[in-house]
Amino acid sequence: MLAFEHVHFEYPETPPIIPDLSFTIGDGDFVALIGSNGAGKSTVSRLANGLLLPTSGKVLLDGADTRTTRTSAIARKVGFLFQNPDRQICQNTVREELAFGLKVQGVPEEEVKARTEEALRDFSLDGDWFPFTRSRGERQRIALASVLICRPKMVILDEPTTGLDYKECIAIMDYITRLNRETGLTVLMVSHDMELVQQYAKRVLVLTNGQLQGDGPVTEIMKDLSILEKAHVRPAQIPALALRFGDRFKDVYTVDEMAAALKAAAKKGGAPA
Ligand SMILES: Nc1ncnc2c1ncn2[C@@H]1O[C@H](COP(=O)(O)OP(=O)(O)OP(=O)(O)O)[C@@H](O)[C@H]1O
Ligand SMILES: [Mg+2]
Repeated sequence: MLAFEHVHFEYPETPPIIPDLSFTIGDGDFVALIGSNGAGKSTVSRLANGLLLPTSGKVLLDGADTRTTRTSAIARKVGFLFQNPDRQICQNTVREELAFGLKVQGVPEEEVKARTEEALRDFSLDGDWFPFTRSRGERQRIALASVLICRPKMVILDEPTTGLDYKECIAIMDYITRLNRETGLTVLMVSHDMELVQQYAKRVLVLTNGQLQGDGPVTEIMKDLSILEKAHVRPAQIPALALRFGDRFKDVYTVDEMAAALKAAAKKGGAPA
């Protein structure tokens, strides 16, 4: 479990970026963190994995305070995908890149080999590629594979689908969802894309100026237009349309649900209002 307890954070010579933030994320949850540019989302992500330490208050991972826990112990528990994959990639071939984290953890060589080959297959990567000459989408996949190969309990994804085309985006998100469902991987995902959030997250935290403006099930937040406006994000289209159609459409979030509700409304006669 991840817990923020009255976290206060400021960078050197800045006003408080996070004045007083408290929330918890339980094991196996899939949480989206949304908010305007500069709201503090990346700062929160880095506080969550001990890359940054609170100025006051506590960040606890399974009860252990990040200020007194070794970075290596945190890294074993929490995988982190940077907003920019090039901040992550440091080896000359994809195979070496994938093996790197496992070697640092002291995983036996045979197992490193087996898990590397498995990850190459899972992520459709070629072990001989030179990572920096690949496309943005491929570099993102390489970075994500090198995080997940370490089998963390929790993964923090800072804008995981930036620069990816639709197919690449779906492939990555479906893979993460499968791990969430099948292995209980806890996910904290920063995103501006409400279509993505609505499709994949279970719960949404809304951050503005380092403060929580909203925290609730994805279905609730997706239909709270005043909160989404405060977060400067564009609502997902189907729930926003369903809101306009009124109470009979209150459970509509997806294209399929909208199609079914429209058909039902047409059968009964009369426009959806
Ligand atoms: N290293 C730093 N030193 C000083 N100020 C910083 C630093 N990193 C971020 N900030 C400031 O902290 C605030 C929050 O930044 P942060 O990157 O956490 O926001 P964000 O919500 O991730 O934004 P974005 O949507 O643009 O990625 C911003 O005002 C930013 O300018
Ligand atoms: Mg950011």
